[in-house]
Amino acid sequence: MRPAPGGGYLAFGPGKVILLGEHAVVYGGTALAVPIRLGVTAHARPAASCLFRAPAALDRATRRLLLRAFAAAAEAAGRPPVTISVQSTLPMSMGLGSSAAVAVAISGALLRAAAGRAPAAARLRDLAGRMEAVFHGTPSGVDHACSALGGPIAFRRREGRPPRIRRLALRRPLELLVAIAGSRRPTRDTVAALRRRQARWPSRYGRLFQEVGRLAEEGVRAAERGDLESLGDAMNVNHGLLAALGVSSPALDAMAARLRAAGALGAKLTGAGGDGGAVVGLFRDARPAEARLRRAGVTCFRTRVEP
Ligand code: PMV
Repeated sequence: MRPAPGGGYLAFGPGKVILLGEHAVVYGGTALAVPIRLGVTAHARPAASCLFRAPAALDRATRRLLLRAFAAAAEAAGRPPVTISVQSTLPMSMGLGSSAAVAVAISGALLRAAAGRAPAAARLRDLAGRMEAVFHGTPSGVDHACSALGGPIAFRRREGRPPRIRRLALRRPLELLVAIAGSRRPTRDTVAALRRRQARWPSRYGRLFQEVGRLAEEGVRAAERGDLESLGDAMNVNHGLLAALGVSSPALDAMAARLRAAGALGAKLTGAGGDGGAVVGLFRDARPAEARLRRAGVTCFRTRVEP
């Protein structure tokens, strides 16, 4: 939260990458998620009433959804008298948490306007969760928990109880390269298709979810020990299990292989996957790989998670 040049103030919601545990997290497994440097900035300006100016470039359906989500959050925050606009540096619908980042940025601005000070992380997560529920129905909550905390987390959803969220104490920085492997269908469709398979063959899919959750727990311990090789290996194995779950694609598999060939200690699809989206690689130094991929025309960026 910081003052904006020209008046009002700015609230930032970072995007995220899931390093381990997506999809299984919907069924109660652990996920390891970290924020990235790209994200959404909300600009709040004092006004006569509580208003949202949706970006002009959005299509009608997205605009309507965003306005509905804003109305839910504004109501819960007591409709403080501010006009809020947003700007994003995140690619949308790529598994990088753009909806959670927008929810956290707007919720931060609303709560700051209502209380006159920056909100506590739990309150911010709660309000952003109301917006995410409008966007996604029943998300696990890992995206907006990571964005609201602004740090690496181990996240576990619990039935009928608040999720267990632990901020991780990393031993070493995590140097990541995120590469885009093409457009994809919405998260909600990929999650729903997997739910249909899981409902039909619960024991088979249950075993895979359990294994993904265990890998995430091992990865969390490796990250806290600073054992990057073990974390990278867990990411490779997790990618294989995501393929087994039916949420990878030839483009995602090829991009993961390309990052490994460029020196990644581990690489996997991140987020819902499906027919496209993003791949994340863990590196000791991601600069040579970034340069190589950029030369080959791949959209990618480096991000570093500090301890
Ligand atoms: O929307 P995405 O691509 O960031 O995916 C979110 C991660 C899932 O585990 C697939 C869904 C969820 O609600 O956690």
